[in-house]
Amino acid sequence: MTALAASITRDSVADELDRARRASLDLLAPVPDADQRRQVSPLMSPLCWDLAHIAHYEELWLLRALDDVAPTDLRFDDLYDAFAHPRRERVDLPILDPAGARAFAADVRARTLAHLDRVDLASEDPLLHEGFVYGMVVQHEHQHDETMLATIQLMGDELAHPAAAFPVGDPPTPSGAVDHHARCAVHGGPVVLGTDAHPWAYDNERPAHTVDLAPFAVDRYPVTNHRYAEFVADGGYDDPRHWTDAGWAWRDEAALVHPQFWRTEGGGGWSRLRFGRREDLPPAEPVQHVCLHEAEAFARWAGGRLPTEPEWEAAAAGASPHSANLGRVRWAPSPVGSRPETASVHGVEQCFGDVWEWTASPFTPYPGFRSFPYREYSEVFFGNEYTVLRGGSWATDPVAMRVTFRNWDYPIRRQIFSGFRCAWDLT
Ligand code: AVJ
Ligand code: FE
Repeated sequence: MTALAASITRDSVADELDRARRASLDLLAPVPDADQRRQVSPLMSPLCWDLAHIAHYEELWLLRALDDVAPTDLRFDDLYDAFAHPRRERVDLPILDPAGARAFAADVRARTLAHLDRVDLASEDPLLHEGFVYGMVVQHEHQHDETMLATIQLMGDELAHPAAAFPVGDPPTPSGAVDHHARCAVHGGPVVLGTDAHPWAYDNERPAHTVDLAPFAVDRYPVTNHRYAEFVADGGYDDPRHWTDAGWAWRDEAALVHPQFWRTEGGGGWSRLRFGRREDLPPAEPVQHVCLHEAEAFARWAGGRLPTEPEWEAAAAGASPHSANLGRVRWAPSPVGSRPETASVHGVEQCFGDVWEWTASPFTPYPGFRSFPYREYSEVFFGNEYTVLRGGSWATDPVAMRVTFRNWDYPIRRQIFSGFRCAWDLT
């Protein structure tokens, strides 16, 4: 069971640490060490940097912050500080090689577990309260696993190992015909956004507060490849009327013509590249690898818009992250209509898992926000530069997902497992 235990114990913490580490090592196992050391894209770190950064973060928070422990290597505070060096420069730093990173991670983990045996989990120290700092480190590892998967996906055709290591599995089959355009009504009124209660929620999800919403409608499902291909076929990428000014400028500069990893095939069909393998584009899967600008252009073309962050959270009310396509059960999004059990109280399906969903909202602090335990997790990213994504992808671990969870990225990013759904004004 991956749901957070009602009471956090040494055993449940050790289990979550272990589950995260197995996930990291499993996804790196099929990648040769030479590929783990190289720069795959200027947007990403070498994979062995991510693993050693995971270990360094663990040493920092589960050993050095909790106890008077000497760091393994003082130089690591610079080498593995995400703010000290941009991702594209890390390959040229004297970082640990893949074997060194694995050894460092194993060494830190052994000491973390030994320390966990002695730590007072009932302590009133806010770092330890309900195991918060352990939850932070566990989620951090899972988040970097998702980042590493994006790097592996970017290896594209050069990927030396087959997509068989990351099986998509048999698609779940919907019981009847599925209307990709179906919409759900969400009544307006006061909604509670964020949380005070979830012990492992990040600072940016707090505090809980009430927001007043006008009624709106929202897509029952994330926008599918089928719907998105209609936008492409209709010349959506060639018509500036659909795009914001910033979006059109980026579409020009980056020469965007379709989602990342798509390719036209003979006969007018599309394929997509998935972990080194070309596959027919599955029409009923949510579109992924689109940036905010592409999502906004689609929405405008369709006569809708993107939901705001409060609208997204209201639409998802009552849906459980734990029944969803999270955690690499299926190494791709699920076809729409195949998971009716995920419906929110408003009937909105597949809010969690499958694809991260772009919202219309910049990443800003909630009223009463207080940075905890460090400014560089959330606070330094607040402002108009980043846009919020909600709901998690097929690659997101359930322990790093809840209805209040906020992800953010630049509007131009699409190597992440990102899609969207549209909202519609009721007039
Ligand atoms: C929440 C995914 C935007 O990757 O920058 C990892 C997560 N924070 N290490 C990121 C994170 C520190 C963060 N995102
Ligand atoms: Fe990190």
